Amino acid sequence: MANSSQETSSFMTQANALFRKNLIFQKRNIKTNIRLVMFPIIVCSLTVILQIFVTKNLKSINKLESCGCVCINENADGNCEKTECGIQHSTLEQMPYCSIPSPPRWPALLQIPSPEFRAVRTNFTPFTDLPDESCRNSGACPATLLLTGLNQSFGISLAANLFASGLDRKSFDNLDSLSNLYLGSDTSTGTTGFLEPAFIGNSPIYNIQPQCAPNSTFFVPVQIASVTIQQEVQCLGSLHLWRQSSSMIKDEIFKGYQDGNSERKINEIVAAFDFLNSDKNNFNVSIWYNSTVKNDDEDSDNKLVRVPRLVNAVSNAYLQLMKGTDVRMLFDFVKEMPKPAKSVFSVDILSDLGALLFTWVILQLFPVILESLVYEKQQKLRIMMKMHGLGDGPYWIISYAYFFFMSFTYVLCLVVFGSAIGLKFFRMNDFSVQFVFYFVYINLQIAFAFLMATSFSNVKTVTVMGHMYVLGSGIIGAALFQKLVQDHSFPRLGLVLLEIFPCFSLYRGLYEFGYSSTTDGMLWKDLRRNGMGEVLIIMVVEWFIVLLIAYYFDQVVSIGSGVRKHPLFFLTNFQKKPSLTSSQPSLHRRGSRVSVPMEKPDVSLEREKVEQLLLEPDFSYYPIICDNLKKMYPGKDGNPDKFAVRGLSLALSRGECFGMLGPNGAGKTSSINMVRTF
Ligand SMILES: *[C@@H]1O[C@H](CO)[C@@H](O)[C@H](O)[C@H]1NC(C)=O
Ligand SMILES: *[C@@H]1O[C@H](CO)[C@@H](O)[C@H](O)[C@H]1NC(C)=O
Ligand SMILES: *[C@@H]1O[C@H](CO)[C@@H](O)[C@H](O)[C@H]1NC(C)=O
Repeated sequence: MANSSQETSSFMTQANALFRKNLIFQKRNIKTNIRLVMFPIIVCSLTVILQIFVTKNLKSINKLESCGCVCINENADGNCEKTECGIQHSTLEQMPYCSIPSPPRWPALLQIPSPEFRAVRTNFTPFTDLPDESCRNSGACPATLLLTGLNQSFGISLAANLFASGLDRKSFDNLDSLSNLYLGSDTSTGTTGFLEPAFIGNSPIYNIQPQCAPNSTFFVPVQIASVTIQQEVQCLGSLHLWRQSSSMIKDEIFKGYQDGNSERKINEIVAAFDFLNSDKNNFNVSIWYNSTVKNDDEDSDNKLVRVPRLVNAVSNAYLQLMKGTDVRMLFDFVKEMPKPAKSVFSVDILSDLGALLFTWVILQLFPVILESLVYEKQQKLRIMMKMHGLGDGPYWIISYAYFFFMSFTYVLCLVVFGSAIGLKFFRMNDFSVQFVFYFVYINLQIAFAFLMATSFSNVKTVTVMGHMYVLGSGIIGAALFQKLVQDHSFPRLGLVLLEIFPCFSLYRGLYEFGYSSTTDGMLWKDLRRNGMGEVLIIMVVEWFIVLLIAYYFDQVVSIGSGVRKHPLFFLTNFQKKPSLTSSQPSLHRRGSRVSVPMEKPDVSLEREKVEQLLLEPDFSYYPIICDNLKKMYPGKDGNPDKFAVRGLSLALSRGECFGMLGPNGAGKTSSINMVRTF
């Protein structure tokens, strides 16, 4: 009775069948699939449209947004063939947006208090050497300096040389020549010095001198790129006041400090010098200056402070005291570093939002895989396939390969389409880095889906959970995780722990791609510096671990994959293998070829009875006699022939109530159907 047709089908055959089953399943879901693949394409296209929209609008809302341009090659028909942009074609408002390869030189200025705040005699300071308050009305209050030091006579003679340029104003005809004067301004500084605010706008420049001659105001032409301004230079007298100690100066500065709502008048000085132990052989000075300008409340960017000229002025005073008035230390100019153009056109949506958008796009696959796995369990397809001889191994390998192929195509679509429409997010980064990252990630994602699938048995639950996971991971990633990545004080270990969640490692990787796309793009050598190296290691290790755990749970706790095994099945498997097979005689387990055992005694008894009956002339008492009833499906796709009913012999006597028992696929229905047709 041992049948040669009872061979189990080869791995390739199982693979082939399962693969075709999956393809048919996908064909039925063609609409869902098209929607799925359209998703990255839509997201990419939308970002491009959004990008264009934002750029356009920024341009029209803010007319001053870009560096000035002129047409330098006009056609006969009036169209411009070539435009040239640059600081030389810009108005003062446009200049901040221009690139400045060689920034202009500016004379180093002193910070002078506005006329209405300059120090005067008040009832809250005990000093009577300050000017009378009336000078504020005429705007003629001097620029006050406070001095102290250990040797007063030395200090006073040193201070006598402060701001003494001794130069005639006739000799100043451009900005460079102004550098020889001690110039000051009451404008506030910016965060950069590409354009000195003192020369833009209408405020005068002060020429600080110990004594002002009458009619000493003059104008100097100042050229800033293509614009020429007649800059007014006003003389401003300086007042040097000696104080007994540095603590008195501190007190005076403190009391003169602007006090928001009190009625106290504001008394601002230019600076204070403490000459300490300076003498003929030793120059030791400390300088007080107002650093409040450095950090305005409105924007926390540090502003430049006009201090360098103070240092130069006091050094010159010392030099001149020692060496005579014709010796001086020149301070020609200050100059900012070259400046790249600042332009709204560099707004790149994907560098900020790319991580979030593409996390959503790629995570989208997760619920799809999970649903498909759970669907097979819910519909009992898995158990059915198992009964029909599909082993766990082929099931896993083929499903895995299938999902991998699907994910790979999906991500490939994303990257190819994204690069094709010119998204920097994909274009700038090395493709091999991207390939490895996405390859590892989709593998991890599939393994993770297999793991999750072990604990669910309802497709609806899984659909809802899966989509919540996608949405939630993106939002938490953008709102929280990204902040932690950017916060350099957050411990690295914390990030590593968070990245154990596949959604965060995905987010981190995409974030790094987005970040690199704004600079030079990511190369292999950058992996040491940025978080990508860690992410890849975490994902690879996790992939193996998750896969193992998933297989284990699939065997032990899974609902729907068939027989639940003992939690320690891998230990008992070796010893119990034979008994496991014989406990399920009706299922022909693949790999353990079960030749039909010797017929049980009752079966052979029945067979003999039928054979006996058939020999007798009259067996009308038995309405049903089956003699070796068989049903065989010819093998397809290289599968062996499949017996549905294998030699059933049966004799039922009149009035007998007969029941047929047996597991699924034992052949009950087939037998009865055959009997009915006769
Ligand atoms: C103070 O300085 C003067 C020179 O300006 C010097 O002659 C005098 O000795 C100094 N006094 C002390 C106490 O060092
Ligand atoms: C320092 O500068 C700020 C800003 O210009 C001003 O409001 C403040 O009164 C000044 N303080 C002193 C002590 O001069
Ligand atoms: C400069 O003055 C400070 C403060 O009084 C003092 O500590 C330091 O030793 C002095 N330096 C020299 C070179 O005299």
